[in-house]
Amino acid sequence: MQLSDKKAKLSVSDGGPEIEFPIYKGSVGPDVIDIRKLYGGTGMFTYDPGFLSTASCESSITYIDGDKGELLYRGYPIEQLAVKCDFLDVCYLILNGDLPDAAQKLDFDQQVTRHTMVNEQLHFFLRGFRRDAHPMAVLTGLVGALSAFYHDSTDISNPYHRHVSAIRLIAKMPTLVAMAYKYSQGQPFIYPQNNLSYTGNFVRMMFATPCEEYKLNPVVEKALDRIFILHADHEQNASTSTVRLCGSSGTNPFAAIAAGVACLWGPAHGGANEACLQMLEELQANGGVAKVGEFMEQVKDKNSGVRLMGFGHRVYKNYDPRAKLMQETCKEVLSSLGLENDPLFKLAMELERIALEDPYFVERKLYPNVDFYSGIVQRAIGIPTSLFTAIFALARTVGWIAQWNEMLSDPDYKIGRPRQLYSGSVSRDVKR
Ligand code: CMC
Repeated sequence: MQLSDKKAKLSVSDGGPEIEFPIYKGSVGPDVIDIRKLYGGTGMFTYDPGFLSTASCESSITYIDGDKGELLYRGYPIEQLAVKCDFLDVCYLILNGDLPDAAQKLDFDQQVTRHTMVNEQLHFFLRGFRRDAHPMAVLTGLVGALSAFYHDSTDISNPYHRHVSAIRLIAKMPTLVAMAYKYSQGQPFIYPQNNLSYTGNFVRMMFATPCEEYKLNPVVEKALDRIFILHADHEQNASTSTVRLCGSSGTNPFAAIAAGVACLWGPAHGGANEACLQMLEELQANGGVAKVGEFMEQVKDKNSGVRLMGFGHRVYKNYDPRAKLMQETCKEVLSSLGLENDPLFKLAMELERIALEDPYFVERKLYPNVDFYSGIVQRAIGIPTSLFTAIFALARTVGWIAQWNEMLSDPDYKIGRPRQLYSGSVSRDVKR
């Protein structure tokens, strides 16, 4: 942390002492006021629901400039990573701080590839779920259950254990997601195949059957790889903060990542792409493009409770750089699969056109986010809507585990324990 020359001063209007707080500079982005001495000095807490003004940690993994629409992993712009790297390059980068050279890449790819199988007993664990269970319910359970199978990598004070658990989580997530899908379809599980790429292997485990040879479509492989890259990390979002908070108690990495999966499920976070596609399908069933205007009126009416899913972002207030890249992929996939005239895609484009012109959205700086397009891409590939968030979880696992690791290596690391502004009853007696 680099100390700034500036200092922040706080004086409370009741004549109490004036307190000075140090300010730290980041390498880029807003400075932070170090208020750790606030409570000791004033007896007061800060009040910041949703943490809109709070830097919860120091991190060197991901940088977002929401006003500029900039996203960097370890300093590299997402636009370059998305076109010049594959997902495992990005995993290596996020975990280790730099892109791998050829030898490092070969070694890393091999390590991940060698950990893609899951303990056979997990198949029986999975079989305990109902076949119509939501994949995120299944995934939360499966990821948590990994800690019951891989005891040999749960010592968080051992850097080698932390490394192995990171590799295991990254390697096994595609296998678990594909297993959850196959189970919902009543189809046999497809085992990983080591001669395929990380993403190619996932596509095969999803769509192959034992009855015939599976031929990979490189456009589909590339599109999913890009989805993985764009979702790999995103600073201190809700699920990442959940992983850090959960992990701060010293729990094992599988348990901490399971908490992240559970958080991601919500429609305001990773569940947005599923919710977005459901919204498009409903709109399509109720009149399609002709009814977009009416639908938008509902969205703008606060009492309707309807939100335009796939629009808006807590941090990006000009545009989501991932959305631009995803829109490109969306066009590529639809054209390669001969789906350019897909009515849902046309509907999405019409919604986007209206929203980008409508003062309601313009004034509130609401733009399409990555999930507006990623749902359309996944649907075109043949991934069922209910699996979208599980795919997001697969991609985000590397970010979660890197952030968890960073937290444990931080000398200032403490168990997370926010306080509150209490407004309940004051102390009273039980009158009985
Ligand atoms: N549709 C309609 N109105 C909206 C929307 C939307 N999607 N998003 C925000 N608003 C309005 C909101 O009603 C409020 O209006 P007013 O100022 O009149 O009260 C204003 O815009 C600010 O909204 P907010 O809820 O305070 O904004 P936020 O920054 O807290 O919320 C958000 C961000 C992502 C939760 C929200 O935009 C949303 O619910 N979007 C739809 C869900 C979605 O697509 N989420 C995916 C985010 S990208 C994936 C990820 O990174 O996890």
